[in-house]
Amino acid sequence: MELERLLRSQGFGSRPECRSLICSGRVCVNGELCDDPYNDFVPEGLNFSVDGLPLIFRKLVYIALNKPPDYECSHKPKYHPSVFSLLPRFLLTRDVQAVGRLDEDTTGLLLLSDDGQFIHTYSSPKKKIAKVYEVSAKHPVDDAQIAVLIKGVQLNDEPSPIAAAGCERVSERLMRLTVTEGKYHLVKRMVAAAGNRVEALRRISVGGLNLPEALALGEWMWLEAADLERLAQRD
Ligand code: URA
Repeated sequence: MELERLLRSQGFGSRPECRSLICSGRVCVNGELCDDPYNDFVPEGLNFSVDGLPLIFRKLVYIALNKPPDYECSHKPKYHPSVFSLLPRFLLTRDVQAVGRLDEDTTGLLLLSDDGQFIHTYSSPKKKIAKVYEVSAKHPVDDAQIAVLIKGVQLNDEPSPIAAAGCERVSERLMRLTVTEGKYHLVKRMVAAAGNRVEALRRISVGGLNLPEALALGEWMWLEAADLERLAQRD
């Protein structure tokens, strides 16, 4: 693939913009400066850099973001900045989308991708993907609340009770709750229906993928093949 086309596919702008990046000496391929936009490369596995930022050619991108509080998951946020403002421009040009949404005050693991099939799989309620939340509660968490959450709570506007796929107390006011649906304010509504109140919410895993401890709030990382395999694991 010609370098100009290759850069375009990776989100670096229109073909003229990519050509100008290359011709002005800002692009290296396999460690060597390449200023010929028509130079041909095999894209799979290609290492390149733009303005010194090292990258690998990626046909599709998969990302984990540790969402900070006071960020909205929308491209058109109303009250807070968008999570997309935490990503570099080349990912936005690739039309990376969030896989489902977290509330503005919820923190933790948010997946993003430009792979439509992947987004569909991991946001579809039919797939019953487990999502684990750390719930900081206003009141002490007791056995009765846990039992109610496991048995199922009837929420307004829902045809039948919704049960947590798992719920355990971690400390007096902290519980770990697993849900397999992605309804609006689901965890907050479930905890309220069980007689408590969510004070803070952090998503710590999706499927078999845990939020990496080294990933600070606001930071993102590529998900590689091994991460995607982990994500797809059910138990
Ligand atoms: N449930 C909620 O109530 N809020 C979230 O952000 C995610 C799940």
